[in-house]
Amino acid sequence: MNLIELTDAEFVKFRDLIYRTSGIQIAENKRVLISNRVRRRLKATGIAGYSQYFDFLRSPAGADEMQPFLDVVTTNETYFYRDSAHYDWLGGEFLSGTIAEAATRRRPRSIRFWSAACSTGEEPYSIALKVAARRRELAGWRLEIVGTDLSSSVLAAARAAVYDERALHRVGSEERRTYFDEAPPGRWTLKPEIRSMVSLRPHNLLKPIGGEPFDFIFLKNVLIYFDAASKKKVVDVILAALAPGGSLVIGPTEGIHGMLGSLEKVKPWLFRKGG
Ligand SMILES: C[S@@+](CC[C@H](N)C(=O)[O-])C[C@H]1O[C@@H](n2cnc3c(N)ncnc32)[C@H](O)[C@@H]1O
Repeated sequence: MNLIELTDAEFVKFRDLIYRTSGIQIAENKRVLISNRVRRRLKATGIAGYSQYFDFLRSPAGADEMQPFLDVVTTNETYFYRDSAHYDWLGGEFLSGTIAEAATRRRPRSIRFWSAACSTGEEPYSIALKVAARRRELAGWRLEIVGTDLSSSVLAAARAAVYDERALHRVGSEERRTYFDEAPPGRWTLKPEIRSMVSLRPHNLLKPIGGEPFDFIFLKNVLIYFDAASKKKVVDVILAALAPGGSLVIGPTEGIHGMLGSLEKVKPWLFRKGG
């Protein structure tokens, strides 16, 4: 039994499993990191060693353990208005253009947003705050903001919507006063009027999302650890989900520019589907 660190052979098995289920490629030098994270699940399940835990995970009896396992091995760093230029564009040019198009009946009065890999909710709620800032012009519109993630624990945190200073460092004092309740000091709970604008659900980016297409997709800070084959799968899912004329915003580390040839490149991080 080795509770201290994974052996090389065990590390390879866990890396393969993580890659197959999520698309995330764990670098070869991350053995200690994965050891530490998986150890939390050994403690939680009371299983004595990594190999036994791996066998349990792969057995029918361990099916419910896959989600908590993925929860501990994914990286969930995020905060409100991350990559602020994206939100300036969304709250300004994008919404103004969309409202103007609807005024001349060139599009319906509806927008569907998808925050793919939304982690603890800061991304879809930042979208909601930008939409709320223009609520008068958008009165009567059908507005849907969907946030999805592979990890159920981050989705639970997103539903609770309680944030600390680190998550809110880009949110100004007036916006905090209007849309958050501070209690206890330093813990900010997003008000129901913004929370209710966002629906949160589990989704693996390697699988089609289905349903109606989205006018706007944020795909940010998730594909950095994916290899080319998994990135391609995700890009196909995203392209299928994007409505004609829809906009795709990607993060600085996605590394998928070469796979977006069918879209018009509007900015280094902004792509538009024709039609
Ligand atoms: C670093 S966070 C990025 C959050 C947010 N998009 C941002 O830019 O701040 C990456 C998120 O991707 C999620 N993730 C990783 N692999 C995924 C997959 N195959 N499908 C869906 N979500 C995934 C993780 O659970 C994590 O919450």
